[in-house]
Amino acid sequence: MSDAAPAYAGPDRILSGMQPTGGLHLGNYLGALKGWVELQNSGSECFYCVVDMHALTVAHDPSLLPGRVRAAAAAYMAAGVDPDRSAVFAQSAVPAHAELAWIFQCTARLGWLERMTQFKDKAGKDAERASVGLFTYPVLQAADILVYKATHVPVGEDQKQHLELSRDIAARFNRDFCGGEMKFPLPEPVIQTSGARIMSLKDGTAKMSKSDPSDNSRINLDDDADTIARKIKKAKTDPEPLPSELAGLNDRPEAKNLVGIYAALTNATAEQVLAEYGGQGFGAFKPRLAEAAVEFIAPISEEYARLVADPAEIDRKLAKGAERAAEVAAPVIAEARDLVGYWKPGA
Ligand code: TYM
Repeated sequence: MSDAAPAYAGPDRILSGMQPTGGLHLGNYLGALKGWVELQNSGSECFYCVVDMHALTVAHDPSLLPGRVRAAAAAYMAAGVDPDRSAVFAQSAVPAHAELAWIFQCTARLGWLERMTQFKDKAGKDAERASVGLFTYPVLQAADILVYKATHVPVGEDQKQHLELSRDIAARFNRDFCGGEMKFPLPEPVIQTSGARIMSLKDGTAKMSKSDPSDNSRINLDDDADTIARKIKKAKTDPEPLPSELAGLNDRPEAKNLVGIYAALTNATAEQVLAEYGGQGFGAFKPRLAEAAVEFIAPISEEYARLVADPAEIDRKLAKGAERAAEVAAPVIAEARDLVGYWKPGA
């Protein structure tokens, strides 16, 4: 449906966001942040928010939330997001997100949301007890993107379905309220070729995630060199040596994951990694992987430590980012209000 629509005439814009779940991990970096920085450095207009409104969809401690927002913003910046070039801000600081989310809740269909696999995963067996916000979470995500008329969204593979929903919402709104005119773009995911799906170090079939109770399942962006080396040494593997061909990784999820991480860290393809390490055991490969991870993370964690030590400076950057974001969102929300027919004097 959406692909047949006329082209969107607005400028290219980038938006993405992460939940403030404490520290970020290597999956966040390789799957998303790396792409954020590349897009920023290619000269695109970028908006990178910390999605603290999404954090309310599950039980959370209000006293910890502001610090976690600062920590996430510091991690963005430590990874190379430059707040002078990209707007870095807290989602809740720009109320237009919430305002557009309500309009989109009336655009999205129940059936579309019922298909979202992430809700099913997060709500678990007792979905009746999940918050309504957890269910409508992807609608707020669509508003995050479209309130800036963002055209491209750098994310890991797990967000693809949410992006499809954003496209469906934009297309439906354009059809229902704009006579088919492309007022909202249909945002495209930008997904890394390697790193889009980093798995747990303990289970190659589960995503590397902050919510895994075992800290050994992930490499955090603020882990020190010894911790990184220890976690990689303990990472689950199988007894076979690495294969020389990609096909040899089929049915070997842990081996595939470690090769994928190495490839993403060294900007190589999995084929190139296997051409170098095929036939070698994990005893030889893991130390190389640990070296690559340490070399890569050390400068990020150093910069992160420097930035978090000055929360007032992070606050100044977040306030400036929110101001810039609110400026761009203002005409978009004003237009959406008019299009749905909200009252205003003389309307
Ligand atoms: P979140 O906070 O779970 O994850 C942030 C980003 O990190 C990516 N990611 C991964 N990539 C590869 N391997 C992994 N193991 C891994 N774990 C996480 C995610 O794909 C994501 O890009 N719903 C979003 C937050 C959000 C958002 C938005 C994103 C809210 N509004 C608007 C883009 C645009 C989420 O929960 O991401």
